[in-house]
Amino acid sequence: MSRRILITGGAGFIGGHLAERLVHQGEQVVVLDNLVGGNRAHVPSAAEFVQGDVRRLEDLAPIFAAGVDVVLHLAGQASIRLSFADPSVDLNVNTLGTINVLQACLKHQTPRLLFASSMTIYGPANAVPTPEDVPPAPVSYYAVSKYAAERYVHLTAARRDLGFDFNVTSLRMFNVYGERQSLTNAYQGVLAIFIGSVLRGEPITIHADGEQSRDFVHIDDVCRAWIGAIDTPAAFGREINIGTGTPTSVNDLCDLVLASFGHTRDTYPVRYEPAQPGDMRRSAADRTLARTLLNWEPQVMREAGMARTIEWAKTQIAR
Ligand SMILES: NC(=O)c1ccc[n+]([C@@H]2O[C@H](COP(=O)([O-])OP(=O)(O)OC[C@H]3O[C@@H](n4cnc5c(N)ncnc54)[C@H](O)[C@@H]3O)[C@@H](O)[C@H]2O)c1
Repeated sequence: MSRRILITGGAGFIGGHLAERLVHQGEQVVVLDNLVGGNRAHVPSAAEFVQGDVRRLEDLAPIFAAGVDVVLHLAGQASIRLSFADPSVDLNVNTLGTINVLQACLKHQTPRLLFASSMTIYGPANAVPTPEDVPPAPVSYYAVSKYAAERYVHLTAARRDLGFDFNVTSLRMFNVYGERQSLTNAYQGVLAIFIGSVLRGEPITIHADGEQSRDFVHIDDVCRAWIGAIDTPAAFGREINIGTGTPTSVNDLCDLVLASFGHTRDTYPVRYEPAQPGDMRRSAADRTLARTLLNWEPQVMREAGMARTIEWAKTQIAR
């Protein structure tokens, strides 16, 4: 029997892919999104769409009142740079928005919630690849708001006075990339930013010396992790890294994008600018827990995933 699954932020990059796959599996999908960063076209036509805001309990209430079996909570302000421009937006959307979703879950005894957490909560960890038991030390307002939200999720689920089993999982995603990531949003997704720059004939901007590394994980793998986790009791109450474990430097990423357009850093304008606040030097996931608890391994190899993304991007600009 199909379930009613609420995806907050379901018009966004990751949420839209999840909505599409869950509809395809025959689930009833409800998307709540205020469209501040999302795209209505990402919401499959078979899904119910509610334009609303997680900061407003009254927007959540009617959806929960109609019955929700699973919540995938992805609505969020997802840019580190914007978090420095206005930290109160992050706190309101990422932390208070999550508290609202939790309140609605408690009121309606919703049994299952998955939360979109972030590798940024680790900060400059000594251990890279970083396992989940490294104490988080966020260095951006964004990461503080995500870590606070994650703690609210897990503290709430651990309460003994709830009167029902509230099963939660946080997926600490690393750098998710792939088809449909915005090519015009200068604040999110470094691969998409680089591709968008080249397609528009604009210089690529690299912050710091480009030797900082990120762990790029393809959207297909990320969706398999989310959907697989929904019905996996071993994941209840757990925070789990979703990344490949392989770091890629920003310079290497830039070279890879330029090569696919027949360029190198010598033939294409690449500007180096100072590091941005909240930047992390090294980042990669220890994925032992994802393997043990979710039986999850990344399947999309970096070169293939990036080539697919670039081919998709070319069709978007050509339109
Ligand atoms: N993309 C990544 O690499 C990555 C990594 C770790 C965590 N995350 C988290 O995963 C989630 C989804 O990320 P994404 O890359 O799909 O970003 P996205 O910006 O494409 O999606 C976020 C969605 O949330 C919506 N939204 C924002 N504020 C809202 C509000 N107040 N009420 C309702 N909807 C609101 C936006 O309109 C957008 O559709 C975010 O919470 C992000 O912080 C993303």
